Amino acid sequence: MLTAVIYTTTHGTTAKVANIIRKRIGPEKTVLIDLRECPDPDITEISRIIIGGSIHAGAIQPSVKKFCSRHLNELLKKEVGLFMCGMNRPNYAEQFENAFPSGLRSHAKSICYAGGEFLFEKMNLLQRMIVKKIAGIRESMSKIDRSEIDRFVSEMLA
Ligand SMILES: Cc1cc2nc3c(=O)[nH]c(=O)nc-3n(C[C@H](O)[C@H](O)[C@H](O)COP(=O)(O)O)c2cc1C
Repeated sequence: MLTAVIYTTTHGTTAKVANIIRKRIGPEKTVLIDLRECPDPDITEISRIIIGGSIHAGAIQPSVKKFCSRHLNELLKKEVGLFMCGMNRPNYAEQFENAFPSGLRSHAKSICYAGGEFLFEKMNLLQRMIVKKIAGIRESMSKIDRSEIDRFVSEMLA
């Protein structure tokens, strides 16, 4: 079965998670689709779709929302997995609810809060100030949750 991991990323972390998922499933059976390069991919021939994005100021990227709403009926006929990158653990569930349509969430075979990273070298001045002020973080850190990603992939392949 061919799997597409369809994602977007702001500073590169969701792309890293998409690559981890691809390696776990098997690179020869998985295609990665970056919505920044391909905003409206044709998914008719793909039976398993994994969709992911990251949370900035409480919201997932509009391109992820647009893809999900545009392809909702088609997605509901396929095997679907949803993942989200973020650093504000207490808000994960609420952010996830706002990120994906409810019909797609209940249809999903598995979901994943994949953790995230603060990459100061990739942030602009305003983003650095926000992260310092709101999260109290002053230097780059990585909290990608590899065991949660492993669980997610196992559930998707079960
Ligand atoms: C300016 C800024 C705002 C953020 N806001 C949130 C947030 O509201 N909730 C959250 O869980 N994570 C938040 N994050 C953390 C990001 O989701 C995290 O950096 C993630 O790994 C980004 O993934 P990406 O590089 O694929 O976009 C924020 C990060 C930045 C830089």
